[in-house]
Amino acid sequence: MSSFKPLVFSGVQPTGNLHLGNYLGAIRKFVALQEHHDCIFCVVDMHSITAQLVHDDLKAQTRSIAAAFIAAGIDPVKHIVFNQSAVPAHAELAWIFNCVARIGWMNRMTQFKDKAGKDRENASLGLLAYPSLMAADILVYRATHVPVGDDQKQHLELARDIAQKFNNDFSARIAAAGLGVEMMVGEEKVSGYFPLTEPLIEGPAPRVMSLRDGAKKMSKSDPSDLSRINMTDDADTIAKKIRKAKTDPAPLPETLEELEGRPEAQNLLGIYAALSDRTRKDVLQEFAGQQFSVFKPALVDLAVEVLSPITKEMQRLMDDPSHIDAILKDGSDRANVLAGKTMADVREIIGFL
Ligand code: TYM
Repeated sequence: MSSFKPLVFSGVQPTGNLHLGNYLGAIRKFVALQEHHDCIFCVVDMHSITAQLVHDDLKAQTRSIAAAFIAAGIDPVKHIVFNQSAVPAHAELAWIFNCVARIGWMNRMTQFKDKAGKDRENASLGLLAYPSLMAADILVYRATHVPVGDDQKQHLELARDIAQKFNNDFSARIAAAGLGVEMMVGEEKVSGYFPLTEPLIEGPAPRVMSLRDGAKKMSKSDPSDLSRINMTDDADTIAKKIRKAKTDPAPLPETLEELEGRPEAQNLLGIYAALSDRTRKDVLQEFAGQQFSVFKPALVDLAVEVLSPITKEMQRLMDDPSHIDAILKDGSDRANVLAGKTMADVREIIGFL
């Protein structure tokens, strides 16, 4: 029996500005992974209507995420870059997964609770079912690895639960159709149709925090623009935001242990390490004993050096929307072929005529 071929899948929502958290938690990892893996990167436009239905310019937002992928270094010829709504199989498989997943599983999702807020009854059904669509995004390609920031961990655990329940519930049909693939579940070798996807979360900045409050995640929805570095910020704005970033009065210590209880210092150190592809320990060795008045200017230089060329290239790409559209069209044509094969198998397994 065959085993799953390694395949990387990830997605980014086209809502609001991309920020440093999206870049370090996700996009920078995509760029590194593409060297040694087949990858599919998706602008998940269908996810963006779950929390807010009407958007000012969803098309432009979708193009800007694709532009960010390419400007950051993703190769859309070797790999697949597309927008979710152009591949209807995502929605089709999500429907099936809605029937596999249990309501209790969805109710436990912390992001649903956060986004729905107090008025849960008034949240869209799509927001509740969001993780089911996310599982479909990944599993319609039978992807094995998913690079994401730490905030997506629970959703990826749920994708594994959905895959496992589908594999169990249909195990006899999967075997009868000869569609089983061998995989390890813990110590046990089992066969199933969908892989149990591995999240790729590690790295020095799996959760980039707000520059104004080290206890809060850097996010698109923070009302303070000073809390985040946007991928569209120019060099002066990046410098201003880092200069104003909250810190404490102590110098940087010798060891990571001594950083405990200093969330803002930890955050800036993690950002420096991720931007320079070094470990936090290594960066700390260089700056041990230094004040933030020394560390912050070094971080400004590094951030500008890494981010400015990406920002400029994004702007250049955005000036030619038809070029981006052509890339997305090519990507969705290729994605449709792959997803179509999975859906033919799934229809057979379920018994749709
Ligand atoms: P989204 O669009 O909110 O974020 C895109 C990626 O950026 C990461 N991220 C962060 N990483 C570190 N620090 C932060 N402060 C930070 N903020 C965001 C996210 O973890 C994510 O990797 N549900 C997903 C999109 C999605 C998806 C998928 C991802 C839909 N289908 C399938 C992977 C596979 C989301 O809303 O990400």
